[in-house]
Amino acid sequence: MKKRILSGMRPTGRLHLGHLVGTLKNWVALQDTYDCFFMVADWHALMGEYENPKDISQNVVECVADWVSVGIDPKRSAIFLQSAVKEHLELAMILSDITPLAWLERCPTYKEQLREESKRDLTTYGFLGYPVLQAADILLYKANAVPIGIDQLPHLELTREIARRFASLYGGGIFVEPEPVFAETTKLLGTDNRKMSKSYGNFIALSDPPKVIMEKVAKMFTDPKRIHLSDKGHPNKCNIYAYYKIFKPEAIEEVLDYCANAKAGCTTCKKNLAEAIIYHLKDIQERREAVMEDKGRIKKILEEGVEKAASVATKTMNEVKKAINLYEL
Ligand code: TRP
Ligand code: SF4
Repeated sequence: MKKRILSGMRPTGRLHLGHLVGTLKNWVALQDTYDCFFMVADWHALMGEYENPKDISQNVVECVADWVSVGIDPKRSAIFLQSAVKEHLELAMILSDITPLAWLERCPTYKEQLREESKRDLTTYGFLGYPVLQAADILLYKANAVPIGIDQLPHLELTREIARRFASLYGGGIFVEPEPVFAETTKLLGTDNRKMSKSYGNFIALSDPPKVIMEKVAKMFTDPKRIHLSDKGHPNKCNIYAYYKIFKPEAIEEVLDYCANAKAGCTTCKKNLAEAIIYHLKDIQERREAVMEDKGRIKKILEEGVEKAASVATKTMNEVKKAINLYEL
């Protein structure tokens, strides 16, 4: 029996290069060794976007299209929609009964989001419970492992704590304490050298056409000390060079040489990088277009994923209700 993985993403917009190298490449590789469940976390998206939820629906479609185009294989992995498997909320309700408020209030991701997202009012009951729902997502599938970024680690730790608390209250043997799986990939900064993020508008989307990629790369920050062609650059301080390592690794020696010895300028350097990114995304974009053209395809992928997910989720929920001794009708 293969070990099981569950992971998810909120459908908040088109995916970008940061998602590709930080998360999706890892997911694709994990499909070889694990039984994978990949969830579009629309309930989690709603927690943040409740004031303006109209885009979530289309973003679900974009998200699945992105996943499939990079190589998440719906034949091997369940690609499913969180809100279509009712057990997520059922389990989240039960877990919210046993999760002390203090565990949630001290959660670093919660405090950070409240600080950072000053434009949105996130002081809601639901948002405080974000990690409880995430724990339900994971425990419902008895996932052995969860591929996550380091920023999500507190949520996984909380999941493990909640699983232990459940076991001490109602008996063990139902939930599995999941382990984190970290990607080996490097973190890509945005075009302005800040963290790549939708809200900063500093990303290159997987679906950006070549012209847009050219423009975005041309505007990227470089080594600030290199102003003239004759200035020697410091590639290791330049974001462009970091991108080369990922998108054109065979050229890094050359770039290092012409940059550090002031043999070529940043404009050429960027143009070559943009071409490499465009080339890198070519197959992905072709597959994306094919998926998007076939209108029923995404719905069908989600329906099949939901069916597979629900068959596991209902089993777990039955065990949970039995353990608590709820009335069975
Ligand atoms: N919180 C995750 C994020 O924002 C998304 C998510 C929801 C998730 N449920 C999950 C990730 C369960 C891993 C496992 O990226
Ligand atoms: Fe960066 Fe390339 Fe310019 Fe060097 S030549 S500073 S690596 S953009």
